[in-house]
Amino acid sequence: MKKYQRLAEQLRSQIESKIWLPGQKLPSLREQAKRSGLSMMTVVHAYQMLESQGYIRAHERSGYVVAPSVTNAEMLYQRPEAVSVNDFVFEVLQASRDIHTLSLGFAYPDPALSPRQQLNKSIAAASKRIELMTALDNLPPGNQALRQLIAQRYAARGLEVNPDGIVITAGALEALSLSLQAVTQPGDSVIIEAPAFYGALQTLERLGLKAVTVPTDPVHGLELEALAQALNDHDIKACWLMSNYQNPVGYSLTRAEKARVAALLQQHQVVLVEDDVYGELYEGATAPETVKHFDTEDNVMLCSSFSKCLVAGFRIGWVVAGRRALAVQKLQLMSTLATSAPMQLSLVDYLATKNYEQHLDELRKTLALRKQEMYQFLCDEIDDIATVHCHAGGYFLWVVFAENIDTTAIYKAALERNITLAPGKLFALNDHFNHGLRVNASFALTHANKQWLRAFFAEIKQHLPDFCRA
Ligand SMILES: Cc1ncc(COP(=O)(O)O)c(C=O)c1O
Repeated sequence: MKKYQRLAEQLRSQIESKIWLPGQKLPSLREQAKRSGLSMMTVVHAYQMLESQGYIRAHERSGYVVAPSVTNAEMLYQRPEAVSVNDFVFEVLQASRDIHTLSLGFAYPDPALSPRQQLNKSIAAASKRIELMTALDNLPPGNQALRQLIAQRYAARGLEVNPDGIVITAGALEALSLSLQAVTQPGDSVIIEAPAFYGALQTLERLGLKAVTVPTDPVHGLELEALAQALNDHDIKACWLMSNYQNPVGYSLTRAEKARVAALLQQHQVVLVEDDVYGELYEGATAPETVKHFDTEDNVMLCSSFSKCLVAGFRIGWVVAGRRALAVQKLQLMSTLATSAPMQLSLVDYLATKNYEQHLDELRKTLALRKQEMYQFLCDEIDDIATVHCHAGGYFLWVVFAENIDTTAIYKAALERNITLAPGKLFALNDHFNHGLRVNASFALTHANKQWLRAFFAEIKQHLPDFCRA
């Protein structure tokens, strides 16, 4: 640790233990340098670091003071911090690639649930029609017919969007990433959930953004009061949230909560990058709304894809970018240039000529059944060592062990038995969720799989102390 980091750490701990109270003036730079025996430059660095983390504020002529409501805020949300998660995410994803594993750590639904034959027919149909110049027709913002079909699907969900404001992207991840880039500069603070989809953390890391994390409750979901306070206390440039079937916890915001999020963000003029990749995977008769449904000022950039509900390998997603569509296209031009033309055309063929609704109906029913079955199985097997959270929609279960259990150790032991799991560490900037585990419940729970898992859980229980944090 460098000298300025050590000093910043000391001061942060003093602020947290209320030695310095909100609004109180800290020692001047000169005084601090004298007290600590450090150079002025080192002290300046330390103060700047604390300022960027939101602990203190520079006041003209009166030096630095402790940021207001720091004590309350501390309880509600985590202040801005730099992000560094990519290496661990990469390690876990690489380990999950083996097809002989029981892929409970996989982020996509069981590929066997994809309508492969129909999609192959659509690829064949598209390839017959494709001409060399089609590449040009499919440049950003993407294929016109595809954008229209997407807009029609939203209309059926009660959301009117102009196809001209939609940009087709390489999966939802590119849509999310370009959207965030379009409304931020490196160093800006962005609100995300804790825990959050690791793709959000990776994107913040890549764009040099700081994360202000708002807590979630495994039962009740996003803590809206903490969101409101974070928006009050910090200069937030954007917010990245999921309102339906949140990854990894699985909760959805209620209609009223979605409306409140839209209003809060509107009030603070903060753009929402809304991730709705699981929106089609609802249970029951009607599709859920999104926060975008309550957006009256074109303040929400709604991102999604076909990856979770139809086919992941096509890598086709989109953002409803509205007035920011041009900004997104310009960024796309500098990164991937455009989305694959044959894949866009194949999807147009599939959506226009095949029975997508029927596929979705079957997929929703299968996922709901498999999730319920996995939930019951986990409750029966591990309810003495963990709590299993199951929400309607999507296909993830969130399993919470006692706080001293380290699910990264469980994940490593599972790998040795050819089982992949998604440990909580993947979804956070710190160790707060190291006792959580995301389980993909979209795979058939065959008799053999049950035996496989049962043997593994028995081993964990037998050696539980080995999975405790030091
Ligand atoms: C919450 C969430 N958002 C976005 C993505 C990325 O989707 P796509 O494969 O369409 O890029 C994923 C994939 O795992 C996800 O879980």
